[in-house]
Amino acid sequence: MVTVGIISDIHSNYFALEVVLEFLNDKIDALICAGDFVGYGFQPTECLEAMMDYSLPTYYCLGNHDVGVRYEFCQQIDPKICRKDLKFFLLKKVRPAAKTMFTRNAQDISEAHYHFLENLPLFFEFRIGKRSFHLTHGTPSKKEMDKVVRYLPAPPIQPLRQTIDRANEFSGTKKVDIIIIGHTHQRFFINRDRVQGWSHIGDRYSNKLVRYPKEFNFPRDKIILNPGAVGQPRDGNSDASFVILDLEDSKLTFHSLQYSREKFYQIAKQKCPPSIQDSTFWEINF
Ligand SMILES: [Fe+2]
Repeated sequence: MVTVGIISDIHSNYFALEVVLEFLNDKIDALICAGDFVGYGFQPTECLEAMMDYSLPTYYCLGNHDVGVRYEFCQQIDPKICRKDLKFFLLKKVRPAAKTMFTRNAQDISEAHYHFLENLPLFFEFRIGKRSFHLTHGTPSKKEMDKVVRYLPAPPIQPLRQTIDRANEFSGTKKVDIIIIGHTHQRFFINRDRVQGWSHIGDRYSNKLVRYPKEFNFPRDKIILNPGAVGQPRDGNSDASFVILDLEDSKLTFHSLQYSREKFYQIAKQKCPPSIQDSTFWEINF
């Protein structure tokens, strides 16, 4: 197994996911997803089925919106069984529009989809070839909640030292080669003490646009990587973002693929509840 596709934050956007999976189809030997399979978008079923039925080895973890949707789903069946997810709502402020979409997605999914979300781990440590991986949605922290909801942004959003220290805060990550996170919807790649590549957030500062695909030599040293979001990028480029890691040739490539955002908006217009239709919800996120 030498080539790995790395994605995150699909957010029930199957228009974007379909394009990405089609592109990855004959190029990878395994697929990694850093969570947020659902929430925000209108195609949770299509996205979950594509990910559940994926034909290659998969490595997945739980995102905060996955918690939100599964909580709303089990509220409909038996509120007692989802008590453990309640603290997520008590401790963390959730935007009303995001919460509305938890409920909408929960109405669409089946019990099998719920069980998939229920079984996603808070973090996942594994090896592919000679490399060790630590996968978590938010931050590799000791605290359960932080693993799912705490952001780990890169510069210029947060000082580099702070990003590195926080990624190493959890003793389990000290000897790991590759830490993969999602959640910010902003792609970056840090090797030791240097940001090797970051997203359009960085472009705004350096005033030069990154062209994709963008390839880097993959170092032997430790890296921290966020592949960006498939279904809802927040780094100035609204195309679907993901990474291909070639462990044999030691290449790491950031990709950005266009998908039909018009079709997405058509569905949004049909299905979007009136309470969030007139808000800036979609404009902010797309
Ligand atoms: Fe997300």
